[in-house]
Amino acid sequence: MNVLLIGSGGREHALAWSLAASPIVSTLYCAPGNPGIEAVAECVPIAAADLDGLVAFAKEKKIGFAVIGPEAPLVAGLADRFEAAGIKALGPGAKAAILEGSKGFVKDLCDDRGIPTARYRRFRDPVPAKSFAKTLGLPVVVKADGLAAGKGVVIAETRDDAIRAIDFMFDGAFGAAGAEIVVEEFLDGEEVSFFALTDGEHVVPLIGAQDHKRAFDGDRGPNTGGMGAYSPAPALTQAVVDKAMNRIVKPTIAAMAERGTPYMGVLFAGLMIKNGEPSLIEYNCRFGDPECQVLVTRLKSDLATALLAARDRVLNAIDLRWCDDAALTVVMAAKGYPGEYAKGSEIRGLDEAASLDGVRIFHAGTARRDGKIVAAGGRVLSVTATGKTIGDAQRRAYAAVDMIDWPQGYCRRDIGWRALAR
Ligand code: AMP
Ligand code: GLY
Repeated sequence: MNVLLIGSGGREHALAWSLAASPIVSTLYCAPGNPGIEAVAECVPIAAADLDGLVAFAKEKKIGFAVIGPEAPLVAGLADRFEAAGIKALGPGAKAAILEGSKGFVKDLCDDRGIPTARYRRFRDPVPAKSFAKTLGLPVVVKADGLAAGKGVVIAETRDDAIRAIDFMFDGAFGAAGAEIVVEEFLDGEEVSFFALTDGEHVVPLIGAQDHKRAFDGDRGPNTGGMGAYSPAPALTQAVVDKAMNRIVKPTIAAMAERGTPYMGVLFAGLMIKNGEPSLIEYNCRFGDPECQVLVTRLKSDLATALLAARDRVLNAIDLRWCDDAALTVVMAAKGYPGEYAKGSEIRGLDEAASLDGVRIFHAGTARRDGKIVAAGGRVLSVTATGKTIGDAQRRAYAAVDMIDWPQGYCRRDIGWRALAR
């Protein structure tokens, strides 16, 4: 069947690489894609936000299955639009994508179902929000309710910072996304990204990964979309996975079905693990980026078949196999990211680096100009490697990074440190 993948980041390059290898995929299209994705799919210049354009294209090309990578089109209802046009789509409809689209909704659902999460309250007014923040220990966590491109969370180390964050959000820093906020207590522990695939009724655990959100080595500097990831995540033992499935993910899927908005697709649970007990930090309605790059690298089973089984509500018939090898990915970002950064600098040495054993380079924010690859985003490359251990994968990934000639880029040099320090 013809498959249309939506998105243009490192996550989508990894998905495209895996989907293109599937025996059930005839032509793979990607909208809008990137120069890395061009090697495995036919890229079409339609933005992920152009829902009308995507549906029209899918009809024209007789797309049998659409896989939606990023959250914004899911929250905007792209899966509903495809399904209404008779095109199967992976990912929740807008009503179920609320699991990422409203943090307050998720907190209330947790409260209702006894799902472990940080103590919280929802606010539409700064005065009671500040009073509540004063009752919590430090740091205090302040979150815009809606989508804020990964920037809507402030971990306030002092009460003054918390008050400033509350004012900042209600002053419209995140537009409508900040019209309502959540104030909650800080959870400490080890953070992991846990993924499940669900058809609305059946839920299959995928594997977990650990991301590195801060820009600089030693987990310092500003928060980013993720500077690197590895899998397996040692903190995610089988016992923790069982608890996460039984106490967090399955009750959520059951609750969504009971309220008449069944959730279908990938559910990404950000978990905080302390003394072997997982609590929910937040949900995302999609694969993580860069977590997806290490997940698909470790997947032995056919990804397209599994995703289609979720869409077709027959996930109970699927048994996923994973490689025992570890995978690790290092994000190379433009200097200045997550703040201001320049675009257009040339990147050399990609082919040589990608030819190293066990290495695969996923493009995230690149463009092609005069036959050259240039930087075109904040997170630009996702240099991924496999190995027998996380240490092996790390050595290979950095060997490849060191072959890439791009003085205008930077990366963390310590991806995987937490696993290696165990
Ligand atoms: P989010 O945008 O919801 O992914 O939050 C960004 C990051 O903030 C998460 O990945 C966590 O590292 C951190 N975070 C969010 N909420 C909490 C919390 N209640 N306690 C500790 N860390 C948190
Ligand atoms: N890497 C975290 C995310 O995709 O949200």
